[in-house]
Amino acid sequence: MQLTAKISPHLSLVNEEIEYPAEHILTSATDLRGIIRYTSPVFRDVAQFTADDLAGAAHKIVRHPDMPRGVFYLIWDRLKAGLPICTYIKNRAADGRYYWVFAMMTQMRDGYLSVQIKPTADLFAATREIYNDLLFEETGGLPPESSARRLCASLKERGFRNFDTYMNTALDAEFGRRPDSSGIDTATLDSINDLSGLIERAETLVENISKVFGQVRGEPVNLRILAGRLEEAGDVIGTISKNYETMAADMCHLVERLNDSEAGVLIRMRDAIDRGRCAAQIAALVQRSMSQANEAGHAIPPGQATMPNDACRTAMTEVIALGQTVPDTCRQLRRRINGLDLVKLLCRVESGRMGDVDNGMNGIITRLEEAHQSTDRHLSELIATVSQINSRSKVL
Ligand SMILES: Cc1cc2nc3c(=O)[nH]c(=O)nc-3n(C[C@H](O)[C@H](O)[C@H](O)COP(=O)(O)O)c2cc1C
Repeated sequence: MQLTAKISPHLSLVNEEIEYPAEHILTSATDLRGIIRYTSPVFRDVAQFTADDLAGAAHKIVRHPDMPRGVFYLIWDRLKAGLPICTYIKNRAADGRYYWVFAMMTQMRDGYLSVQIKPTADLFAATREIYNDLLFEETGGLPPESSARRLCASLKERGFRNFDTYMNTALDAEFGRRPDSSGIDTATLDSINDLSGLIERAETLVENISKVFGQVRGEPVNLRILAGRLEEAGDVIGTISKNYETMAADMCHLVERLNDSEAGVLIRMRDAIDRGRCAAQIAALVQRSMSQANEAGHAIPPGQATMPNDACRTAMTEVIALGQTVPDTCRQLRRRINGLDLVKLLCRVESGRMGDVDNGMNGIITRLEEAHQSTDRHLSELIATVSQINSRSKVL
């Protein structure tokens, strides 16, 4: 009874925002249904609830009606799938005022953990605009699942590849602005950022291979034009050109296996690295939150605080497993290059047979040679880069 009286909002306060220091970390833990099991003193301070109010209450106790249902749909969808989620949430305090948080939520052994900080990054304003649109559409009857999809589509329109990319951009921006980030043990984070740099390098190398091959794929056409002009000798060149075309197409398929924007190995490695980074950032905040809670004589229940570290290690194991498939693809690519080299050699033989006449064949051979050599160099560097990623992931 006392609880109901306390949490019923005062109408005069509903449009008032609660300001709180940027150093604050609001931590809460729930069971698998979202029933609160733990809240940090800072959480209770900002939300204006007592420990008694919150004991056994559902986390929606702080739900604000301005929040679109689609966001919570996405939160639960990801948490139930074992994926972390970071996003902005408008909450309602016990006295009816509101406060915004940037919430990072993750799975634990038998429930979920949330660490929330004050949002300050530019992405916060853009996200609020999207939420306003979603709320409007939900009022018009848009169901939560469709609203969650609309949210992801809106983020895509704003240049984010998927929700993970948005989440990690927001996480980096919010985390980087923390006034106390220097006090946090960032060694793991620094290593993961190194991994991100390496995967970017690997992606650039594959893009280069793809670009070079995109260019030489036109050469068989040039060879065929040449063949058309050369009567008898043209037959051999026509066959050579066909062979080259087939082998180059095969090569492009293999390259796609690495850099396809949805299912390519490198993209999946990048996503796993991002998941690891997200978990490591949450772990760093949990560590800081624990020291804040300890100062206030409370502590996150044992066992729960280590979960983000475990999630980080799981992500790294995934990076390693994916990375191990790259050398094999590179070996197959190299075999194709050797095959193409043979075709190129046949071109040279034909060119030699035709004597000194400059019919364009020499130019084609030189371009193929350059393409093969640069691809070979890129492949060597790619293997070395992925091997570096793997050995660094192992120690995280
Ligand atoms: C760990 C964790 C933290 C959560 N934090 C919040 C929060 O800060 N604010 C909120 O409104 N919902 C939060 N939720 C989601 C709520 O459980 C609930 O789904 C949401 O308030 C929507 O309630 P409704 O589906 O009854 O409308 C959290 C859930 C979990 C598992």
